[in-house]
Amino acid sequence: MVTDLDARARAILTGNDRGGYTVPTAGLYPFQWNWDSAFAAWGFSTFDPDRAWTELETLLAHQWPDGMVPHIVFHRDDRGYFPGPDVWDTGRPVPTSGITQPPVAATMARMILAADPGQAGRAAALVPKLAAWHRWWMRARVREGVACVVHPWESGRDNAFDWDGGMANVDGSEVGTYQRRDTGHVDASMRPTKAEYDRYLALVQWGRAHGWDQVRMADEGPLLVADPGTCFILIRACDDLAALAAAAGVSDEGAGDMAHELRAGLGGIWNAEAGFWDARDLRTGAFSGILSAGAWLCWLAGAGRPEMASHLARAMDNVRYALPTVDPTLPTFEARRYWRGPAWPFYNALAALGLRDAGLGAEAERLRADTEALIRGGGFYEYFDPTDGTPCGGKDFTWTAAIWLTWAGRGA
Ligand code: DGY
Repeated sequence: MVTDLDARARAILTGNDRGGYTVPTAGLYPFQWNWDSAFAAWGFSTFDPDRAWTELETLLAHQWPDGMVPHIVFHRDDRGYFPGPDVWDTGRPVPTSGITQPPVAATMARMILAADPGQAGRAAALVPKLAAWHRWWMRARVREGVACVVHPWESGRDNAFDWDGGMANVDGSEVGTYQRRDTGHVDASMRPTKAEYDRYLALVQWGRAHGWDQVRMADEGPLLVADPGTCFILIRACDDLAALAAAAGVSDEGAGDMAHELRAGLGGIWNAEAGFWDARDLRTGAFSGILSAGAWLCWLAGAGRPEMASHLARAMDNVRYALPTVDPTLPTFEARRYWRGPAWPFYNALAALGLRDAGLGAEAERLRADTEALIRGGGFYEYFDPTDGTPCGGKDFTWTAAIWLTWAGRGA
């Protein structure tokens, strides 16, 4: 049965479709974003499977020769976004950014094929590209056994507390003048600060000045942080790629081995003193010491621990709508500022996928029910204040609509 909200969600996906790719939301994000696009594909799979495969195919068509799948593909010019293609200057035939984003595409492809098993051929064609991307991660971003990011944007959780330590050592004072566009679309109090943007830009300028040499960015660049969120997503993506390849009848091209290797390195992000999975600045060796959203994905990689279950219960009990993106009992918690507190529907879906697989069905269902309530109460926004449900960020958001159709609006 198609409900009014289902129809609205479908209309958002088709309205944000620019022909083969989907923008996260008009205005604020006018290009194709890597992990947004993978969620869009999952959403399309509920009513237009052909379009779902096309979304993934378009994303992977812009893979770099070294295997990296960029975090933004600038299909057509739009002056409403900063930093645009001229700032990145990556020299790609269709301009792209010069960093990547969490590799959720294999996980989405596996679910899409399960719902559309007749398309094994299209899935098989994606496997070598996804495997090349995962191998790129191992070569260009896995250091000390753990998946790292060289830019906070690479994590997708731009202003999370995870990067504060590492970013304090990035000099943002020489970036020159620039005009942000995001705060023209969304209230500045819900976005990263100017000091953060200066440093984001300094990191882009470093990559550009070093010819976007991805290995050098990890080994010599200003920032290298081991990220629990990316680690868990990559492990899950390798597991899912192996399963996708098996279902499509092709080789997994080493995906199973990569998952194994990554699991062996997980000790590097366990903060034993604090008792949680934690981001670690590999330039200094210091943990962030803050329980942040990356840790909520541990179950996705089969890395749940009793301590994490207690943290999750405490975090859920201290907000009205799960899941806060940082420990809500901390004085630094900001309920409406992007990744420093708000609940994100798509992220809840990802966390719930792991919780369900780990046998924590009640927690997964609470996440779903809370996400359903947030969307029913506030609409298809980018994120929400977890204390009172106030919608925040961009509206008519693609991945919020997608997870309504796939999960949040599907009942228990
Ligand atoms: C932004 O511009 O806000 C993005 O998160 C970068 O990917």
